[in-house]
Amino acid sequence: MFVAKRLTRSKSVRLARGLSSRATTVLSSVDIPTTGQELSGVYDGSWKGSGDILESVCPTTGEVLARVKSATPTELRESLAKSREAYRYFRSVPAPRRGEILRQIRYALSKKRDELGALVSLEMGKIRTEGIGEVQEFVDICDYGVGLSRMMNGRVVSSERPGHSILEVPNPLGVIAVLSAFNFPVAVYGWNLALSLAAGNATLWKPSPSTPLCSIAVTQIISRVLEENGIPGAVAGLVIGGKDVGEAIVEDRGVDMVSFTGSEAVGRAVGKVVQSRFGKVLLELGGNNAAVIMPDADLSLAIPAVFFGAVGTAGQRCTSTRRLYLHRDIAPEFLERLKKLYASVRAGDPLAKETLLGPLHTRNAIKVYTDAVGYLRDAGAEIVTGGERYSSPPLDQGYFVKPTIALPKTADPQDKIWSTETFAPVLNAAVFEDIEQAIEWNNGVPQGLSSTLFTRDLRTVGKWIGPEGSDAGIVNVNVGTSGAEIGAAFGGNKSTGWGRESGGDAWKQYVRWSACTINFSDKAPLAQGVDFSA
Ligand code: UN1
Repeated sequence: MFVAKRLTRSKSVRLARGLSSRATTVLSSVDIPTTGQELSGVYDGSWKGSGDILESVCPTTGEVLARVKSATPTELRESLAKSREAYRYFRSVPAPRRGEILRQIRYALSKKRDELGALVSLEMGKIRTEGIGEVQEFVDICDYGVGLSRMMNGRVVSSERPGHSILEVPNPLGVIAVLSAFNFPVAVYGWNLALSLAAGNATLWKPSPSTPLCSIAVTQIISRVLEENGIPGAVAGLVIGGKDVGEAIVEDRGVDMVSFTGSEAVGRAVGKVVQSRFGKVLLELGGNNAAVIMPDADLSLAIPAVFFGAVGTAGQRCTSTRRLYLHRDIAPEFLERLKKLYASVRAGDPLAKETLLGPLHTRNAIKVYTDAVGYLRDAGAEIVTGGERYSSPPLDQGYFVKPTIALPKTADPQDKIWSTETFAPVLNAAVFEDIEQAIEWNNGVPQGLSSTLFTRDLRTVGKWIGPEGSDAGIVNVNVGTSGAEIGAAFGGNKSTGWGRESGGDAWKQYVRWSACTINFSDKAPLAQGVDFSA
């Protein structure tokens, strides 16, 4: 503790010297103070936070952007109590009225879309167009939630008994905790909040401790809308903190559902703890996504799609393309053309318009990348391109690594090379003979988030999306593995955790369902013809 405090003090000196104008411009545009003061990392109707200090570090320059006061155990308990109180109020607000509040949130976010997008670039490191796209995704899901607020319908089921009706009724669930990851520091919260709020819950957000500023900026915008409408702020609360805060939330019986995005290892622990107290859990864990390229594919579609899938967001999407399966007939040409695109990548400040490749998010991610490349080399893989950090200035200041294509010696999906998700721009490629072999490889890994097939042959499409096809939660055709829209349910199967967020039927998880049998008659017959007359 003593060491941590000293470290913090020395860094605060750095901050006191003044922020770069690059950072100041972005932060002040979203009302984040730039004077070096410590920021409150807890909101439950009022802003507070007196726990450990977390630092937000810019992955491009290494600059400390701000220091944030996290939640103490007592503050977390208070916030959870406030969330419960907010739920008790909010559950009785009519759903279309909740939708109206969401509409105002949508409007407030869209007014600040580009500024928030720049903040995502500054703090997380993804390029500006992707940062803005991520905020747009929040705006889109708000639209969806507004519609949903008039469409969260139950059902009337025919009863076998005369004069009876059975209703399936959705009611608000309670307190929903959203534990989100650094790589989508805005949108994934948006997916959850929009549905949870439309459904009448209180939502408590614990963002990644390395992207506190995105969560503060978003919560500031949302809290203003809530306060203007006389709605308790804890309907959309925030608790910034580390592992201890996350664990306390997961264990708390007062949290009705935990929506967790992150690694398989942590997700497994979260799932067990929540299950053991009979809470609801929604998991969005690792992806290890493959693109399959058939000999008849339109390569002018397939190559840019693989390029975006593997290099976009510096390979840090759950949906990033990590495995490339090429049919023997097109493999040499495909790799040659893809290599050319890789050579044209412009790495640099993610805020600059021309940049295509930003840094990895943390210093530790560089080690994950170099370890993965080291393992590939030791296993005799050919490194087609990349395989190292950017070592000259100014990129050596940030966490920049070269996008890598490797041809491993083995295509065995159970080999560590293929079966583990490396959260960095490393694309492993292998050559297949027929679609059956490609599907077997696609399905042969533990994860099952996203997959795509490039072909013009309807028969192959039929196989790919059918019972003998891809077992992933996202099964695309002639579109990359990443960049899903909000309308369909988003999520993965197998070790990705089976969770579904965003569109489709995902909202049904954010409510509690009751089957209500109602007798409108003067008789009391039993179901299944059971006779219990005395
Ligand atoms: C994630 O990486 O956790 O489909 C979410 C996509 C984005 C969301 C990714 N719409 O790539």
